[in-house]
Amino acid sequence: MAKAKVQYTCTVCGASHSKWAGQCGDCGEWNTMSETIAAITTNNRQGFAGKKGSAQIKSLKDIQMREEMRTPTNISELDRVLGGGLVHGSVTLIGGDPGIGKSTLLTQSLASLSQSLPCLYVTGEESLQQVSLRAHRLGLEDRGLNLLSETCVENIITMAGEPQAEGQRPKVIVIDSIQTIYTQALQSAPGAVAQVRESAAQLVRFAKQTGTALFLVGHVTKEGTLAGPRVLEHMVDTVLYFEGHPGERYRMIRAIKNRFGAVNELGIFAMTDEGLKTVSNPSAIFLSRHEEPVAGSIITVTREGSRPLLIELQALVDESHSHIPRRVCLGLDPNRLNMLLAVMHRHAGIAMFDQDVFINIVGGVRLTETSADTALILAALSSFRDKPLPNDIFTFGEVGLAGEIRPVPNGQERLREAAKHGFKTAIIPSSNMPRKGAAIDGLNIIAVSRVSELIDAAIAL
Ligand code: TYD
Ligand code: MG
Repeated sequence: MAKAKVQYTCTVCGASHSKWAGQCGDCGEWNTMSETIAAITTNNRQGFAGKKGSAQIKSLKDIQMREEMRTPTNISELDRVLGGGLVHGSVTLIGGDPGIGKSTLLTQSLASLSQSLPCLYVTGEESLQQVSLRAHRLGLEDRGLNLLSETCVENIITMAGEPQAEGQRPKVIVIDSIQTIYTQALQSAPGAVAQVRESAAQLVRFAKQTGTALFLVGHVTKEGTLAGPRVLEHMVDTVLYFEGHPGERYRMIRAIKNRFGAVNELGIFAMTDEGLKTVSNPSAIFLSRHEEPVAGSIITVTREGSRPLLIELQALVDESHSHIPRRVCLGLDPNRLNMLLAVMHRHAGIAMFDQDVFINIVGGVRLTETSADTALILAALSSFRDKPLPNDIFTFGEVGLAGEIRPVPNGQERLREAAKHGFKTAIIPSSNMPRKGAAIDGLNIIAVSRVSELIDAAIAL
């Protein structure tokens, strides 16, 4: 293979130079030059009247529909976030903090998949000894999993292209992790953006050409993005992201992007002595059952992906002793909190400008929906006034800047889920009120359409 030509590209303006420099000569930014492979320029451009290439223009109706081939991993929560099983030839990026369970999950799923497809686990981070130790711990040592310890992408592709001991090429490959992989074409150190991007590009090309399903493990940078400033996210079909804290029992996987399924789908696992176990009925695991009602706590029903989840939201509102009161949000967008406090002040006359406000979502869940707005308002109010809300109420609904309570999708499904877990009173947007005949037995529904009504309803409980 001819040696690829290396050039230096500014990550800000995109200008390319043949030599590295501390400052980009084009845009003047410092420290933005990164090593890349120069695109091979060929002179095969044809004029408008040139001869036809291999691609053809087709009408949409002439294109034959083909179902993607899927193989279930038999790990139900992983299948759920993948959109119903692993699609052949798809590339999935799995990101998360160190120690969250990426290698554990992939070892388990590969062991399961290797029952039906030839699989290969490429480890660049741990020795074969360590990987096999983990497999032993998980009780998977006899599953006939193939391992490879290699960090050069060219070698990986050569090995993966050859039949294995059983006479078949691997159909599923795990690369753990993409940051340790390097290509011979570039001189920069493994883990550099250019290395990560170029190695991933070669692997993706290989996966697409051969129909191999590929899992790439990606590390998270200090800023919380998948390292290699998100360069990988648009190259792959699916981006899965571990949420939760490595110290906690529950680990969640969210689909940030999925070309073969619903986005924002959440898979829930528990970390045990025998690896990750799926939590098949996760709805109520995030509730801390208080004996007595406590001030500042309320239940909301969120819908992450395609199923409803009951979540406990806690607030602590306390007199502030600093000039700038603290606003702390765990599991929720802090801007949302600021906005809702402003709405409470403007539309219900409740002023918290001299109070510290802390909000926490129990269990390390991160909410991406706005349906928890009403819950946040009621929790803050309950803590502010030190008045507990009854144990059996829940609420959901979005709050607008004009003080209106807006409906949320799938209201009926959320009501049914909470009723199933024994909740008796719901405070919900009027537009989410079930139609006549669709009432839920034993559930008392209070419909509200303004923030002031929401607060009156809570005080009257
Ligand atoms: P690991 O999967 O190596 O995390 P990552 O690849 O994301 O860095 O390990 C996750 C953690 O889980 C590790 O600290 C050990 C722990 N663990 C268990 O609690 N039980 C188990 O069965 C295994 C294999 C790991
Ligand atoms: Mg690992």
